[in-house]
Amino acid sequence: MKNRVLFIAFYSCVLVLISFKFKTEPTIIEFSVPKKWPNPVYSFKNNPLTEEGFQLGRKLFYDPILSKDSTISCASCHLQYTGFTHVDHTISHGIEGRKGTRNSPVLINLAWNSSFHWDGGVNHLEVQGINPIQHPAEMDEKLENVLKKLNASSVYPALFNKAFGSDKITSSTLMKALTLYTVSLVSADSKYDKMMRKEKGVQFSEQEKNGLKLFREHCAVCHKEPLFTSPTFASNGLKMDSLLKDVGRYGITHNPSDSMLFKIPTLRNSEFTFPYMHDGRFKKLKDVINYYSDGIDPSVSYLSKPLKPFHFSDTEKKDLLSFLLTLTDKAFLYNPRYSYPK
Ligand code: HEC
Ligand code: HEC
Repeated sequence: MKNRVLFIAFYSCVLVLISFKFKTEPTIIEFSVPKKWPNPVYSFKNNPLTEEGFQLGRKLFYDPILSKDSTISCASCHLQYTGFTHVDHTISHGIEGRKGTRNSPVLINLAWNSSFHWDGGVNHLEVQGINPIQHPAEMDEKLENVLKKLNASSVYPALFNKAFGSDKITSSTLMKALTLYTVSLVSADSKYDKMMRKEKGVQFSEQEKNGLKLFREHCAVCHKEPLFTSPTFASNGLKMDSLLKDVGRYGITHNPSDSMLFKIPTLRNSEFTFPYMHDGRFKKLKDVINYYSDGIDPSVSYLSKPLKPFHFSDTEKKDLLSFLLTLTDKAFLYNPRYSYPK
């Protein structure tokens, strides 16, 4: 009798321990806001940042299972070494080499963005992921099929259980996981940042100093420090590509004053995010600077004030370029935490 009681007591303990093990709460991690930066726009209230959630999002980001024929992952068009853009592709290429209509944007400091896509057509990061999955020229897969594949997989249900407390994978937990990864891509460790933090031994050259001055005079109204973007849409005067016929923000709002306005991209890591602009029309940063210097047509009706051709001298162009290069953040581009999960 005594043995039996002991036996039952022992097994109840084991059961309690096992259920305790499966109920372990995911590990909350801190989203650290760089010093003197504004508060992020993204609220973690309904999607707490956890190590398990981040790692799951990372795995999904690199997994072609999200595409129809398992050939394309998010990372196919968003490569870490180039600030998570599709380097060398003017417009993005998806499944079966199908071409999209826009240049793949960088994924940098998204936690501070209030709208997404070049035209701001998406207003929340947690719904953004549905777009590339279902887009016929990107992953061309139905969300319900993705959920079927993930639920049938031998690894994902357990990982979702660890991250979100349920092994039933839903569109909501799928989007939350992807978001926990993309929202964590923070670049704040460039030479510029170290200068601003007054780190020992870090100094701007004369050229970089002049470049920063020029930048603050001419560019910072739109590419505002420290994020080098602003939460609005603007036109830098680019004329419409006659094949792509992209009208920008107007396509979303149908408000004539939004015609040809585009999201102002961050300039962080620009050294590596070529080609540039919503349609990737400029190959080099030099071309961009030449455009701002002499290529803007001041009679273009949608050109955002106070933009005008700046007519930089050759020295000024070099200064500006050398400043832009101080926004390169190798610690971000090579951060092992963001890379393909082993
Ligand atoms: C075939 C290439 C391609 C694939 C695959 C792809 N994207 Fe994108 N991504 C783009 C393009 C192009 C845009 C810009 C779309 C637009 O402006 O209409 C974009 C925009 C974004 C944005 C908004 C960035 C901003 O600053 O506005 C996020 C976030 C994003 N993608 C995340 C993802 C995630 C997560 C996946 C995987 C589920 C993914 N992408 C798969 C090409 C791709
Ligand atoms: C009136 C606002 C405004 C001003 C001022 C401005 N820009 Fe821009 N910039 C934009 C917009 C909007 C885009 C995206 C345009 C597009 O793709 O159609 C852009 C795009 C860029 C890009 C391409 C980034 C990428 O990822 O494709 C670079 C580089 C750039 N600007 C640098 C500069 C520099 C340098 C200056 C100053 C000489 C400057 N900008 C002044 C609004 C502005």
